[in-house]
Amino acid sequence: MSINVLDPRVAQQVAAGEVVDRPASVVKELVENALDAGASRVEVELGDGGTSRILIRDDGSGMPPEDARLSVLRHATSKIQKVEDIETVTTLGFRGEALPSIASVSSFCLTTSTGEGAATKVTVDGGANAEVSPASHPKGTTVLVDRLFYNVPARRAFLKRLV
Ligand SMILES: Nc1ncnc2c1ncn2[C@@H]1O[C@H](COP(=O)(O)OP(=O)(O)OP(=O)(O)O)[C@@H](O)[C@H]1O
Ligand SMILES: [Mg+2]
Repeated sequence: MSINVLDPRVAQQVAAGEVVDRPASVVKELVENALDAGASRVEVELGDGGTSRILIRDDGSGMPPEDARLSVLRHATSKIQKVEDIETVTTLGFRGEALPSIASVSSFCLTTSTGEGAATKVTVDGGANAEVSPASHPKGTTVLVDRLFYNVPARRAFLKRLV
């Protein structure tokens, strides 16, 4: 047996299993993000129990373009800066893991606006490099997760056993 150092994209797909192992964990992470962003209204739409499509729309703070671009990178968070902050954090998330994890195992699209200036759309396909473009969106954020685990056959098979 010889040792391989995993490609970063594969490593992220493996690590994603710690954060998302079924559609409900995607919904939990995205609703938590909406609440952390101060949303008062959060809409959830599911297709086929979340396996074909999960859409979460909020009316929270939204993100300016540069934050939107960073949000899908690992360890990118607005919620802590140093390890001591974990003791006093008041948000539901702080790891900077949820969005990159979800984006590595789905066709992912986030559209967001602070209500000022242009909205931003960030798409990631199975953990590939993000594509960022201007968009139109009211203040808040919409995340669309299509084909969850389409590129992780073992997870897909596990989901089939659940239903
Ligand atoms: N719905 C949203 N509205 C506004 N900003 C958001 C939204 N979702 C994510 N963000 C921004 O993107 C960052 C990354 O989100 P992500 O869920 O990956 O990490 P986190 O919430 O900081 O930590 P955790 O991995 O524990 O959830 C957040 O810190 C936040 O700044
Ligand atoms: Mg989060």
